[in-house]
Amino acid sequence: MHPTARLQLLETAGFADYALIDSGDGRKLERFGKVVVDRPEPQALWRPRRQKPEWAQAHAVFSGSEDEDTEKTRGRWRIDKPVPESWPVRLRDVTMLCRLSSFRHMGLFPEQLPHWEWMIDQLGAIRSEPPRVLNLFAYTGAASLLAARAGAQVTHVDASKKAIAWAKENQAASQLGDAPIRWMLDDAQKFAKREVRRGKTYHMVLVDPPKFGRGPDGEVWDLFTHLAPLMRDCARLLDPDRAALVLTIYAIRASALAFDQLCREVLADRGGAFSSGELAIREADGARALPASLFTQWVS
Ligand SMILES: C[S@@+](CC[C@H](N)C(=O)[O-])C[C@H]1O[C@@H](n2cnc3c(N)ncnc32)[C@H](O)[C@@H]1O
Repeated sequence: MHPTARLQLLETAGFADYALIDSGDGRKLERFGKVVVDRPEPQALWRPRRQKPEWAQAHAVFSGSEDEDTEKTRGRWRIDKPVPESWPVRLRDVTMLCRLSSFRHMGLFPEQLPHWEWMIDQLGAIRSEPPRVLNLFAYTGAASLLAARAGAQVTHVDASKKAIAWAKENQAASQLGDAPIRWMLDDAQKFAKREVRRGKTYHMVLVDPPKFGRGPDGEVWDLFTHLAPLMRDCARLLDPDRAALVLTIYAIRASALAFDQLCREVLADRGGAFSSGELAIREADGARALPASLFTQWVS
């Protein structure tokens, strides 16, 4: 079959503590726990379905100019109703603390839920030893905590001190203080290379890079230049017996086909099954699905 025939739409309809209430006119209205936020969403080209008074219920509105490509956001939050500095959002059996952070983010990307559920299923199938998970560009740690809850030994890598501190707060909020999570403040590329040299292997590798980023020592991350060598290293880090990989890419102009073909190349000698396409979040009334990210999944 030609790879284009394989592109898929992987959707979440939200969960008890998260809903995409509406979208349109370049915005999205969402509920994270008890807090409703109105944020820019350039891909919401259609008209909102809910009336203005419903949008006006938002606790906070992010506005101002933004550039999805460079993540240079000059906008700011306008707070219309009291919002705690951070508040809990229950995600399956972990707790994520959400915040109104700069760059309009909340500390949680709910569109990733289908991958996290798939990851938990894959980890459950490894019975011979505790599964090892490598989470690169791991941010506030949702995947790390869900994997730890599923019994995995987790290596969590992020270049931002702030993100690691936030992920540790989420660990404490989830009562996973004793879980075997290695917190690595490091450049994802350097770390992966070092692990290859050490002969380390993992049953699950998660890669969720931004378009541009910086390692802790200013190492440049430019997706179109550095993704291919990183994925070659990730392929070397996969357990030879049983392994799986998830690559997700957001906020860039590209096709899922590009990442599908890269992963097929770096994993050519492994066989296995691939699936690639887009992640989307379905609106609470089921009307439309808002595109959120591109992905490739592989399992041996
Ligand atoms: C927004 S995120 C990924 C989202 C996350 N995986 C999730 O679903 O919750 C991108 C992360 O990459 C990190 N980052 C950027 N450049 C990096 C680099 N060179 N090495 C490691 N992490 C980097 C950022 O600090 C940020 O936390």
